[in-house]
Amino acid sequence: MYKIPIVNLKKQISPIRAEIDTAIKKIIDNADFVFGKEIDNFEGEVAKYCNVKYAVGVSNGTDAIRLALVSVGIQYGDGVICPAFTYYATAGAIASIGAIPVFVDIEPNTYNISIANIEKILKQKKDKKIKAIIPVHLYGQCADMDSIIRISKKYSLKIIEDAAQAFGAEYKGKKAGTIGDCGAVSFFPGKNLGAFGDAGIVLTNSKIIYEKLKILRNQGNRKKYNHLLLGYNNRLDTIQAAVLNVKLKYLPSWNKKRQENAEYFNEKLKDEEVKTPFVPNYTTHIYHQYVLRLNYPSKKLVEHLNSKGIDSRVYYPKPLHLQKCFQYRGYKKGDFQESEKASIQTLAIPVHPELIKKEMDYIISSIKDFLS
Ligand SMILES: Cc1ncc(COP(=O)(O)O)c(C=O)c1O
Repeated sequence: MYKIPIVNLKKQISPIRAEIDTAIKKIIDNADFVFGKEIDNFEGEVAKYCNVKYAVGVSNGTDAIRLALVSVGIQYGDGVICPAFTYYATAGAIASIGAIPVFVDIEPNTYNISIANIEKILKQKKDKKIKAIIPVHLYGQCADMDSIIRISKKYSLKIIEDAAQAFGAEYKGKKAGTIGDCGAVSFFPGKNLGAFGDAGIVLTNSKIIYEKLKILRNQGNRKKYNHLLLGYNNRLDTIQAAVLNVKLKYLPSWNKKRQENAEYFNEKLKDEEVKTPFVPNYTTHIYHQYVLRLNYPSKKLVEHLNSKGIDSRVYYPKPLHLQKCFQYRGYKKGDFQESEKASIQTLAIPVHPELIKKEMDYIISSIKDFLS
């Protein structure tokens, strides 16, 4: 029996291990642990890769969202729209600054935020307290950004893209995270570009936001002991920047391999009673997750695959409006039906670039076994 993990970091790191060891050794030899050349290099390389003016390295993807919110002026009591079907951190970052997560349902095909439902909420809530929107590019494909920009202009909303899962995906030729006022990226180890611990980055084309982000991530300092803003200790770790700088070179080929693996699954599963990912033509998909859908609960298929040694999971089994920590917002079961359905009917299967054909064929035949 195969043992197929959802990510395979050991296999990913092995061929580039010597390069990474050298990069880490350099940091230790120079005792260059906070800021320094590696941070500048990495930020420069990310800005080039994303074709964006500024990239500010930070401690993780959650802090990237939080700093982005603060840098565009979101304050205590402001409402911020985000999907009900995303990782906790999207809404957690909003709540962490005393702002209010305003949940919206998703599109059933893409699992990204529903444009019609954003408009519905904004029409209902005429109290002008909603100040920003966080579209999440879930699983690695972009939300409908043109529509989000149109709405944000109409209602004067700031846009923070949660590109935690979509680093390298493109919306109409623009990289995810470079379209709104800011984009937040996560380099959590399991992401398509993963550090050796926590790391993240904020992307922006605004010089004003960039200057603010640099101060906010570093205790509100520009110059030491001269605190201009109420900032945080949210610097990107220099060793992580060194690791990421090595790995960034390989990201385009890794993302391409994920896309090829996804196409293979799509082709082999096209005649089965299972829905493969739908990718609208305005976006590319970098398949941070390859998510299938049934028209009944996916739990049994997940269990079946797990019993065959295949690490299949549900991202995410409980939408945010039903989480205990957001009970104070007063939502109830049935409020966001597409999010609730997606949390029951979907499952992710391994799609990482280290998969070999034999393993993919084994995953496919295990799914077919279950469905037959
Ligand atoms: C959609 C989404 N937003 C935010 C985050 C937070 O990123 P991090 O874990 O780096 O804080 C993640 C990653 O886990 C994520 O998947």
